[in-house]
Amino acid sequence: MEFLHISDLHYKKRYPFVKDGYASIFNKMTSPIDMLISGFKQIKCDNLSFVLISGDLTENGIEEDYKELKNKLDMLFYGIPYIVTLGNHDNKEMFYKIWKPETNSIYPYGSITNINGINIIALDNSVEGNPDGLITEEHCKWLVRGFEYTKGTKSILMMHHPLIFDRITPVPVVQYPNEFPQIIKKYLPSMILCGHTHNELYGSFEGVLYATAGSMSFKGFQKGNGEVCFREYASANLCKMEGNLISIEEITFTEYKKVLANMQL
Ligand SMILES: [Fe+2]
Repeated sequence: MEFLHISDLHYKKRYPFVKDGYASIFNKMTSPIDMLISGFKQIKCDNLSFVLISGDLTENGIEEDYKELKNKLDMLFYGIPYIVTLGNHDNKEMFYKIWKPETNSIYPYGSITNINGINIIALDNSVEGNPDGLITEEHCKWLVRGFEYTKGTKSILMMHHPLIFDRITPVPVVQYPNEFPQIIKKYLPSMILCGHTHNELYGSFEGVLYATAGSMSFKGFQKGNGEVCFREYASANLCKMEGNLISIEEITFTEYKKVLANMQL
């Protein structure tokens, strides 16, 4: 079974010109949808059982951006189920309005989806107003219920904010209560997949295979003098699960990583 893990689209229908600062990154950036279209030419889409998107679907959490993004993803992934979770750039209320119009909510968007016998547990660890996200005791209770519900089957845990520090893109990891690692150790999902760092990282969390995906937008490269060079960047994790064997291959969708902005952070 093969599936694609992508993250951090930071989608906007239009990226208006901004003179400087963070938003100027988007002035010259290729649309994440165009990056996905060119990336899809590199892989055999017929083999994909599903696609996972680990948050920061949009840049500003605006209703019209969710609407446009959902239309484009529905067309692009036609016939391939895709599952999303939310990141710090998303807005829960606007997301529900477009993605789940039957649900009028501002609460975390958690979901459990069974595809070909694999349960994908998407935990929303994003918190509006907190760029680092948070795993609370409530999240832990929800997660235990999810793991109990799917007991005896293989599961994949997906969330936006990362659990392992990445020194290439040194953003804080998500804080969690003591019981969280114990839950992971007890229920042992096959993999934990995260985003947010815009950099691919592979490791192990409490003995479970762990990966972040590079973004579908941009990545910051440290220049060593406090300056960060932001470059266009699109990469994905192509994951294969055969019995107990799991492999992850990083696939780069952009050959030429054009400079978008240099910034002192
Ligand atoms: Fe993020």
